[in-house]
Amino acid sequence: MATTKTFEELAASISKNAAIAGGYLRQHDIPTPSLTGGSALDTSALPAHIQAACLSLQDVSLELHELVQGPRAILMDFSTNAKADAATVFQFGLPQKILLDDAEDITYAELAQQTGLAQSALGTILRAAIVYRVFRDPIQGRIAHSAASRLWATDPAIHDLMGLNILDNGIHVGFISQALERHPKADEPTDSAAAVLHAALNGKQPHEQRSTCFEILERESARSGRARTAMNMMDKRDGVSLRHLVNGYDWASLPKDSLVVDLGGGHGDAVVAVASKFPHLKFMAQDLPQTISTAPKITHLPVEFLAHSFLDPQPIKGAKVYFFRWVFHNWPDKYCIRILQTLIPALEKGSRVLLMDSVMPSVGGVPLAREREKRYMDLVMLANFDARDRPAEAYEGIFAKADNRFQVLGIKSIECSELCLMEAEWAG
Ligand SMILES: C[S@@+](CC[C@H](N)C(=O)[O-])C[C@H]1O[C@@H](n2cnc3c(N)ncnc32)[C@H](O)[C@@H]1O
Repeated sequence: MATTKTFEELAASISKNAAIAGGYLRQHDIPTPSLTGGSALDTSALPAHIQAACLSLQDVSLELHELVQGPRAILMDFSTNAKADAATVFQFGLPQKILLDDAEDITYAELAQQTGLAQSALGTILRAAIVYRVFRDPIQGRIAHSAASRLWATDPAIHDLMGLNILDNGIHVGFISQALERHPKADEPTDSAAAVLHAALNGKQPHEQRSTCFEILERESARSGRARTAMNMMDKRDGVSLRHLVNGYDWASLPKDSLVVDLGGGHGDAVVAVASKFPHLKFMAQDLPQTISTAPKITHLPVEFLAHSFLDPQPIKGAKVYFFRWVFHNWPDKYCIRILQTLIPALEKGSRVLLMDSVMPSVGGVPLAREREKRYMDLVMLANFDARDRPAEAYEGIFAKADNRFQVLGIKSIECSELCLMEAEWAG
């Protein structure tokens, strides 16, 4: 990222936004956040303009920090990030072994005894974490919680998210280069880093059929359990709230008794949210058999369930809307094209296909701190599924390649939503 700003200009921007965010905290009696313990700041609960000031603070302070650091140190950070020690911290449950009372800390020797690990190895692991502000050593030879390790120790959903990031996504991302070496086209879920790695760990020969990441999750309950908890936690973010689906599309304009089919619709949360507000419509959620078999019974709304794979021809003909929420980003392009083509025999002139999915901004299109998160999730999609978070124009390309009778009506971003709506009409 090119910069023309001087240190002083960057510092002035930091001062301005620090005054905005700090002033808000003071006015509302919110304690100043601390990295060593005590209070932590949940920026997602703040008003949009304060969140913007906080995001700018992160971005500009990072830019200043890295300008001062210089390219060599940035490369060192990039190539030696905290993954190895993070995996050990997770695996040995170290956050949970340190007492929560602020006044308490524990010696390395006591912790070594509790975990059965050599004190010197424990020291190496924990000090590598301390420099990322996970744990702290209040006095030499002793270890205590930082704000981050306390959060890890006390919030089981965060613990599961750490497990997902470190032991699942992180390890898969680390294996991308080897998977690409073997399968450079990266267009099959069974060729992804996750698929290749788990096949090798299970002693499979290269010519044997590999499982997809979805199949691996289904088989391994510890992985699927932490993936579910972490996803549930992330689903609570306002940016992915179902209110954006309910309010972001003109459901009211659909004729009475129109059928909306939600493919890959899980337990039907999306259709239930829309059905509660638009009683003139009918709904069906479709998903794989094992997901449908655990869906709750819904009797108070016109919502049905059907076990159906969207890779097979669509059995429900003539629905007004075929809807996919957060599905396409899990699939390589050629599968997205196939998923659209399986709908064709069921479509009538004027049928709609509605996608709600993440749309990748152009490089530099959003603040750097946000973009880093998005680019990392794009890597996770590649590592797990040989899929990607697409830019808007890629979705148009997928409709065009599936069939030229899909007419893209538009791509709409919704205020505060992390997902966009993309709609196409079947011209018949
Ligand atoms: C990322 S989740 C999205 C779930 C839901 N649409 C939402 O917005 O929360 C992807 C969904 O696709 C489902 N899925 C995966 N492969 C499928 C297939 N071949 N046919 C139907 N559903 C599938 C999964 O079971 C899962 O429920």
